[in-house]
Amino acid sequence: MATTLLFTQAKGGAGKTMLLTQLAALWLGQGRRVGIVDLDPQRSASGWAAMRAADPDARPLSVLIESADWRASSDLREAQAKADVVLVDTAGHAEALRLTVMSGADAAIVPCQPSMADVWATAATLQTMRSGRLPFAVVLNRMPPRGRTADAAVAALEEAGAPLAETRVGTRAAFADAFMQGAGATEIAARTRAAEEIRALAAEIGRLVPV
Ligand SMILES: Nc1ncnc2c1ncn2[C@@H]1O[C@H](COP(=O)(O)OP(=O)(O)OP(=O)(O)O)[C@@H](O)[C@H]1O
Ligand SMILES: [Mg+2]
Repeated sequence: MATTLLFTQAKGGAGKTMLLTQLAALWLGQGRRVGIVDLDPQRSASGWAAMRAADPDARPLSVLIESADWRASSDLREAQAKADVVLVDTAGHAEALRLTVMSGADAAIVPCQPSMADVWATAATLQTMRSGRLPFAVVLNRMPPRGRTADAAVAALEEAGAPLAETRVGTRAAFADAFMQGAGATEIAARTRAAEEIRALAAEIGRLVPV
């Protein structure tokens, strides 16, 4: 049985596609069959996958489906039949989220940047997630090493009862570099903080749902 992870967040630019592709690269490196269902019409995850497919040295995805809301459920089932881990990228709007949640994901990852605007937007996502049955984790992305704004945002998330992942992801050049190459930081910069953070995040997701 495949494990299916939904990446969702009402606010754009929070890091859904970035974290999804980083985790995909890590799990591919561990020999897992990884599939991506891209529900975002911007097709950023598909762009990453296309670059990866053009690299003969990169371990390829088992399946990539450029999907749409109306066929999310059947595309999910197709990907689940071909992979051990299925990662679902979404655009920020609620319909894709609702359909995908209904279509049988096992857990959701909600990236959130540590700003008040992101925290306010996350409230809507939290409400939707709580109305479903999925375990989920809010992952702080682009966390600065310190700063009062970020601290206030984290405090607000805690107050809202957000299930925060212990792993916090910083703003790292290795992520952007890897993304441009259809790779992950764990592949091109395995000894960096960026790679460490992705390994820690993957381990934590593994405690949320078996991956
Ligand atoms: N931890 C990070 N370190 C460095 N750059 C990052 C990090 N996270 C995200 N980015 C960059 O920020 C931008 C937005 O990230 P990303 O595309 O993953 O967000 P998204 O939630 O998928 O956005 P959208 O809602 O538009 O799909 C991208 O250019 C990405 O390269
Ligand atoms: Mg995206």
